[in-house]
Amino acid sequence: VVIVAALSLSALACDDGPVPAAEYGKTVFADPSFSDSRFNSFSCATCHEESSAAFRLENTAFRESWWGGYAPRLIDAVDYCYQLFMRAAPLSPDDPRGRALYEYLVSISPERDLPTLPLSVVENVAPVPHGSATRGRDIYEAMCGVCHGDAHSGQDRLADTVPIIPEASIGFALERGYDPALVVIEKIRHGQFFGVGGNMPFYPLEVLSNADLGALLEHMGL
Ligand code: HEC
Ligand code: HEC
Repeated sequence: VVIVAALSLSALACDDGPVPAAEYGKTVFADPSFSDSRFNSFSCATCHEESSAAFRLENTAFRESWWGGYAPRLIDAVDYCYQLFMRAAPLSPDDPRGRALYEYLVSISPERDLPTLPLSVVENVAPVPHGSATRGRDIYEAMCGVCHGDAHSGQDRLADTVPIIPEASIGFALERGYDPALVVIEKIRHGQFFGVGGNMPFYPLEVLSNADLGALLEHMGL
């Protein structure tokens, strides 16, 4: 039994002796320095924290495809995030950290042969009716606070490079004669997509409904 366990854990050596690959992978998952870009302050866990309401990854390892079908292999799905959001160079298939990360994702994926998850990106943003401020605060804390800190003050934000919201957008919108709420909706729905750079994640309908988006706007006072 011991031999079988040792073989299937595929241990990786490190300074403190061998560590099971999945455990090492979990460390990589939570480590912003996994990306060597000096402009990066995110780890995989910043967006995919197990306890977070957004972007959940349990059971991700054995799907038919990822990113709504755009990523045919798991390594492609991880690489999208690694390059788009963490500004890293492509992940080498031989990188031991990538292999460990794979073992970690397998360890949180007890179910096999699962279908591709739908990914509905809102293409053309439109105003949404406002919702409850209390609901909005919960959504904000679960989905935005980890990077932006508190609304209006930015207290406890992840890094100085993360803007204070919604103020940063209000200034931008008013200068150009746009509706500030719509500018914020655009950012939430598209993240760094369709825009000039940036590295914020986008929120598809599966992760954030229009009703919850409306509650979020109410919380931010838009
Ligand atoms: C800035 C936020 C962010 C970071 C950092 C990030 N991701 Fe993602 N990830 C996303 C978003 C957004 C999606 C696509 C939308 C979704 O799956 O809900 C996604 C999708 C994925 C998927 C595909 C899920 C599926 O079923 O389609 C995997 C796997 C994944 N990420 C792994 C990782 C790993 C591993 C890391 C670290 C190397 C990482 N991500 C870093 C935001 C992020
Ligand atoms: C993984 C970290 C992360 C998360 C989670 C996140 N953001 Fe961001 N956000 C950023 C970063 C970094 C920027 C600046 C770079 C960019 O524009 O992409 C930004 C920019 C913005 C902007 C544009 C501000 C400006 O300067 O005009 C808005 C608005 C915004 N975020 C709102 C939100 C809201 C609302 C949520 C939750 C639904 C959220 N963000 C979640 C990291 C994050």
